[in-house]
Amino acid sequence: MIYFDYRFMEVARPIIEHEQYQQMKKIKHHDESVYDHSVKVAFYAYQIAYKHNMDWKATIRGALLHDFFLYKFNKSLSLKIIPDSIKHAIVHPIIAFYNANKYFDLNEKEENIIKAHMFPFGFPKSKEAWIVSYVDKYIATFEYASNFKKMVYKRKHPVYNI
Ligand SMILES: [Fe+2]
Ligand SMILES: [Fe+2]
Repeated sequence: MIYFDYRFMEVARPIIEHEQYQQMKKIKHHDESVYDHSVKVAFYAYQIAYKHNMDWKATIRGALLHDFFLYKFNKSLSLKIIPDSIKHAIVHPIIAFYNANKYFDLNEKEENIIKAHMFPFGFPKSKEAWIVSYVDKYIATFEYASNFKKMVYKRKHPVYNI
């Protein structure tokens, strides 16, 4: 469905077909790859932005690049003053922006969509940035739940761990 929406694809194609962006297919995130997660967030955020007459092009571009961090985040179980997951939550929007800015020309709104998507660790300055932050959390919740279900299933059925 996503890849058949010509309006979405016209804006998304130059980003998702970029060699560096394709690298995100190899990085697992929640229950799938960062690539799949980002395209999904961009598509749902775009649908809301388009329906409400907002800047849907900036919404697509900002959302596609919101997690453009290109490394595998590993949670450490060791006790630390600041847990790794909090550090990741604070730092990855900045890294995503750094990478995005290196390969693509971003406007101010797109920059803020990326940097502020982890609200309250950043502050969205536009309706579009609020939408992306909300859609990202909404989708991540389902991805976490799906990943958790799979983990429980594997524990109960170790034979499938092969
Ligand atoms: Fe993120
Ligand atoms: Fe995300």
